[in-house]
Amino acid sequence: MVSSAENHSGEGNKLLFTPGPLTTSRAIKEAMLRDFGSRDTAFIETVRRIRRQLLKIAGVSQEDGYEAILMQGSGTFGLESVVSSTVPGAGRILVVVNGAYGERIVKMTRILNIDARVLRYEENMPADIEEIRRVLAEDAAVTNVCVVHCETTTGLLNPVEEIGAAVRERGCFYIVDAMSSLGAIPLNLETACIDFLVTSSNKCLEGVPGFSIVLARRDALLATEGAARTLSLDLQAQWRGLEANGQFRFTPPTHTILALEQALQELEAEGGIAARAARYQTNHAILMEGMQRLGFHTYLSPDRQSYIITSFYYPDDPNFSFETFYDRLNRKGFVIYPGKLTRADCFRIGNIGQIFPEDVTRLLAAIEYTLKEMGVQLKATVTESAA
Ligand SMILES: Cc1ncc(COP(=O)(O)O)c(C=O)c1O
Repeated sequence: MVSSAENHSGEGNKLLFTPGPLTTSRAIKEAMLRDFGSRDTAFIETVRRIRRQLLKIAGVSQEDGYEAILMQGSGTFGLESVVSSTVPGAGRILVVVNGAYGERIVKMTRILNIDARVLRYEENMPADIEEIRRVLAEDAAVTNVCVVHCETTTGLLNPVEEIGAAVRERGCFYIVDAMSSLGAIPLNLETACIDFLVTSSNKCLEGVPGFSIVLARRDALLATEGAARTLSLDLQAQWRGLEANGQFRFTPPTHTILALEQALQELEAEGGIAARAARYQTNHAILMEGMQRLGFHTYLSPDRQSYIITSFYYPDDPNFSFETFYDRLNRKGFVIYPGKLTRADCFRIGNIGQIFPEDVTRLLAAIEYTLKEMGVQLKATVTESAA
């Protein structure tokens, strides 16, 4: 495997400890040094190969009745494509929310004028499967259910498999936002009863930004005929286009697709999702141990914390300013991320992408040094973890 130093060499390359876009390998960046016409047969073949490989990552295939659809735009475009194309005209979507990304889906339904019922939890509480069962049993108007797998707001994981079983029992369509989890956490579409999964080219698959990916159960996709509310985000039309001649309906993100092809080869060379998960777990363990040693506290309790991204409370010290902390780390070559919580002052550190244990160790040293530069004292003063 390419070393961390090789990946990050070059003018201006910083290590991204963010929820995405993420640090990518040098080979992925180099894969984009080619121009392709959208009708080039080699490009069309690449798209076909990628679509097959993406299904394999989620444990299914076309033969099993699943389809991979690539949609231009970031992850949100893929989600909006699914939400706007799969809820029937007179349907109702149940949206499970415990963070900013769940809230974004609710916002989509408002703009699209889709009837939505919202089940809200605190940002440190996973969805309650029993409550979801009760709502589905009492509300026969619900046709679709949507949940975020890893709420990147905090790093919280929702029980997507259990929810899937409950949704399938009621005969509703099940949509999972697996933006920051696919590639990092093993997930099987069939056993989790997922009808539509949305992820992005630039998170744990370790490609670059440019398109989103929808993995769909074909029968569910066919059953949504006529539900689309927009032209460019029409999921079924996009799929039909890709199936008919392998082409996108509108300008494809050619270079980004070449990057994903390389990224998928690297995922396989790494040993698949199990090996990638192990690397991310090691990164996360080093991060947690180091941040605890420095005196930081996490927003989530350890049993709810995924190994993808972590929210840390600001130190309770008047010398601490997130902007200064961020800028000083940035100048040292480390990019962290602001928080997205409604009721707590936190910042986030991701440990996904082409990040290796030695990178996390270097980040921790930079954090320790930066705190000293800022005159921030942590150990005795930091706020306790959320109840
Ligand atoms: C869980 C989740 N959903 C949706 C999104 C939105 O994706 P994008 O910023 O690519 O539109 C993100 C981005 O981090 C995410 O983590």
